[in-house]
Amino acid sequence: MKISHRNDEQSSFASYNWKLSYEENVQLAPLQFEIPETKVPVGHEWDFLGRRVACPVGIAAGPLLNGNWLLSYARLGYDVLTYKTVRSVARASYKMPNLVPVTGKLSQQGDLHAQQQLTDSWAISFGMPSLPPDQWRRDLERTRKLLSAEKVLVVSVVASPMDDWSIDEIADDYAKCARWAIESGADCVEVNLSCPNVCSADGQLYLHPHASEKVVKRVRTAIGNAPLIAKIGYYWPQDIEVGFELLKAVAGTVDALAMTNCITSRIMDPLDSTGLFDGQTRGIGGRSIFGQSVEQVAMFNKWKLPVDSERRMQLIGVGGIAGTEDAKAYWAAGANFVQIATAAILDPSCGPRIGSELSTASSDNRPVT
Ligand SMILES: Cc1cc2nc3c(=O)[nH]c(=O)nc-3n(C[C@H](O)[C@H](O)[C@H](O)COP(=O)(O)O)c2cc1C
Repeated sequence: MKISHRNDEQSSFASYNWKLSYEENVQLAPLQFEIPETKVPVGHEWDFLGRRVACPVGIAAGPLLNGNWLLSYARLGYDVLTYKTVRSVARASYKMPNLVPVTGKLSQQGDLHAQQQLTDSWAISFGMPSLPPDQWRRDLERTRKLLSAEKVLVVSVVASPMDDWSIDEIADDYAKCARWAIESGADCVEVNLSCPNVCSADGQLYLHPHASEKVVKRVRTAIGNAPLIAKIGYYWPQDIEVGFELLKAVAGTVDALAMTNCITSRIMDPLDSTGLFDGQTRGIGGRSIFGQSVEQVAMFNKWKLPVDSERRMQLIGVGGIAGTEDAKAYWAAGANFVQIATAAILDPSCGPRIGSELSTASSDNRPVT
């Protein structure tokens, strides 16, 4: 089967079309039963939060907009699949453009440049849209029923605070979504403590360790022993100590930290001198964030050893992975598992291909979980 992104006329599997709106893409989910089922050869099993899986690469929150999208990627061979972030209230997507291809070197002071054609990185601007809870909960129930038992269904959740909400109210809203997700069939919850594209408190929680602690503890109470991941953003050099505080604050409560949820930049456009998105920054995904994300995983891995004495907490590496060598760089940095978002759209077979390459490589090349 040839699989590629939707703009390729020859493709029999069409992934997210960056030229269409989010709502159109929700409707245009591939028909999963038309996709031949692919399995990664079991040469090596990978540990994802206590579950043994054959495919070493999961799908991060983003490309799987609903159950039909999720079931389709399951048939491509992915075993760990994250349902795009949901809320306790319905929320529309930001207007287009939602994905803008970019080039340039990512830095705290610099800007990236918008491109008309696809590149290996893009600015992401959705604002975490969500179906109303009764709809996503029904969709999750149906998805879990149709998904085979060995596949892991992760659901990403976020709070939807009003301006005057206290941290307790925010934590309760996270916990409500997490409980609903588990009741509807999720195997694992990911709390999104970072969205680079929203200004409300939920977008920046990872920079506030004590508030994050309150959230993960409240969620832990709501979901019992179900696996819990905290997804965090990038710490620029001046915030590195905050990262260490965050690790200490959530250790013992979460089972894994996933990083990074994009790195922000302003996006310049030759036709608009203030820059795209009214000059506001947006989260960048894809190749541009690879180096910094790997470095952050290595830093957390070093910190984790003395803090997490029971060595319970896993690290999930996300950011810029597009092939086997990229995944190996994360494992070498200390990641236990890796996930992809951009590559899952640009090259849907990427994860299972990495799995197949590793299962046929000599055992010396295989990372040990
Ligand atoms: C189309 C798209 C939508 C995304 N939506 C979400 C989201 O809803 N929640 C979230 O936590 N991260 C979201 N992300 C961020 C990814 O999960 C990931 O952290 C980031 O893109 C870096 O990985 P990558 O370089 O493989 O894209 C999204 C990414 C993409 C490309």
